[in-house]
Amino acid sequence: MPSANAPYDPLDAQNLHNPYPVLAELRRTEPVFWHEGMASWMLTRHADCVRVLRDHGLFARDPRRTGGSVPEPSLSVQTLDPPQQNHVRSLFMTALRAQDLPAVEARARRLVASRLDALTRAGEFDVVAELAVPLSVAVVADLLGVEPPSYTEFAAVSDAIMQSMDGGLNPTLVEPGRIARQQLSELVDSWFTASSRPGLLARVRQMAPSADPHARLYVKNTARVMFQGGYSTMAAAIGNAVAVLLARPEALERMRDPALLATGVDELVRFDGPVQGTTRVAVRACRIGGVDVASGQKVVPLFAAANRDPAAFPGADRLVLERTPNPHLGYGWGPHSCVGTTVAQAGLRALVAALVEHPARLVAAGDGVRRRTATMRAFETLPAFLHR
Ligand code: HEM
Repeated sequence: MPSANAPYDPLDAQNLHNPYPVLAELRRTEPVFWHEGMASWMLTRHADCVRVLRDHGLFARDPRRTGGSVPEPSLSVQTLDPPQQNHVRSLFMTALRAQDLPAVEARARRLVASRLDALTRAGEFDVVAELAVPLSVAVVADLLGVEPPSYTEFAAVSDAIMQSMDGGLNPTLVEPGRIARQQLSELVDSWFTASSRPGLLARVRQMAPSADPHARLYVKNTARVMFQGGYSTMAAAIGNAVAVLLARPEALERMRDPALLATGVDELVRFDGPVQGTTRVAVRACRIGGVDVASGQKVVPLFAAANRDPAAFPGADRLVLERTPNPHLGYGWGPHSCVGTTVAQAGLRALVAALVEHPARLVAAGDGVRRRTATMRAFETLPAFLHR
């Protein structure tokens, strides 16, 4: 079992396959532990994670609050903390609430249905390439009101950004991530100058103050995060959800019931969600879970561990579709919680509803291959076929 001598390695093959037994053991024996490689305190209990995520005064997301720096292209809703973050976050939340999400969901459902029709004739296929990627690009582009970019080109740029999230473990991933961010920024710039479609970006453009150059920068960078972050987490969530349902056909069948569809998509994100954790920095010395944290030290709430904490979730290792309340951290918590939660829920409902309704049944065609990424739990490939 993990200890100071055998540190937790999220990239270990066994942990990539199933991280939950090791996380459960850590939560039991050493709920707040120091990770030498990441130079961080790792939190495995739900209550400790929520405390850190809520208390943005004590735990900073913005590295500039603790003497670090942020390159300009990274200044967005994701890196700014309140009160600086408030304006850009509420701008995007307000613009999102003005969108017709039921219409986005209905279009997503039709897209999945038509892809399933085509895939029925295809024999074995990869769920990631054929369902997760196209559905995620389509939903996020539809929401923002932009022309969907080519899947393959966009997936390569997005992958470089996603992998750079593991820069703490592997610094060689940082520079390719910076270059990819630059490429994506150029695409987003073109949307701001050229796109005239209705959607979230048009709404943001209407409401955003155009005079303040800082505000303009935050808005563009946040648009990039919405697109890339939204796409990559959604694609990963779809792969994970499909794998869970392939292993439990009876759960998929039960999700015909609209009430279980609604609660079930959240339970899927709790049970095996994509975002494994996040980082904050203590701005002052403090204690968490009986451990002394020094000012300037990094703290990592591990969502994956918190979401299986039996103190917060009875029967935490079981998929309970009707689970209510379900205070899971799959979408984060506090001022940096996911801006796109309602969109992600709509996309997942569209996927599951289309799978349930389709006359052919989705069946696994062997084991999937996991990506070697620590921050994002995702499949590289997930083989399946449709059985008539
Ligand atoms: C199932 C799919 C998704 C999951 C599981 C998910 C999960 C998360 C999580 C855990 C965070 C917080 C990370 C942290 O505290 O460091 C987050 C932040 C964020 N998400 Fe999502 N997300 C999903 C889909 C989306 C979509 C579709 C969009 C946009 C269309 C989106 C936009 C954002 C943004 C902008 C943030 C940054 C918020 C901030 O820092 O204030 N996400 N997401």
